[in-house]
Amino acid sequence: MTGAFPQKVKSILFVCLGNICRSPLAQAAMEEAAKKHKLDLQIDSAGTGDWHIGQPPDPRGQAAAMAGGVDISEYRGRQISNRDFLEFDMIVALDHSNHDDLMAMGGDGPAHISLMLDHVAGSEGQAVADPYYGGDQDFQECWSILRQAADALASKLR
Ligand code: 4NP
Repeated sequence: MTGAFPQKVKSILFVCLGNICRSPLAQAAMEEAAKKHKLDLQIDSAGTGDWHIGQPPDPRGQAAAMAGGVDISEYRGRQISNRDFLEFDMIVALDHSNHDDLMAMGGDGPAHISLMLDHVAGSEGQAVADPYYGGDQDFQECWSILRQAADALASKLR
């Protein structure tokens, strides 16, 4: 995690590798948590890679979110850009590799960079496992972990 937790957070970007599995689910979970905690936040997601630009989230992730009543079918993959490091107050990585890539791109900039699970008491420093090569249950677990983590992050931002 870089520096102190920012004072007033207005925008958060969630970043994984492909922007089709974990970070769209993190974005959706945070949008739900922001509603619940009455936070006015700009929330988005991106991938460090470029393979899935313009593509919808993985159907297994869409199904996991839909089972919780959240429709992410309109989300589209995009790749992180240098501008994101100026536009977002917080950039939240899903795993260590994403975190390393973010630090290399913008670690000396104004955005606060952290791991998603840094915001969950007792899980600091841990990665959210990539469900891409897994099955439906891995996506359901991922969604469940991300909902809890988003709720914990939203509680910190109140
Ligand atoms: P994500 O999962 O980083 O959670 O979106 C992946 C999606 C696609 C690939 C790898 C991970 N891929 O190699 O295409």
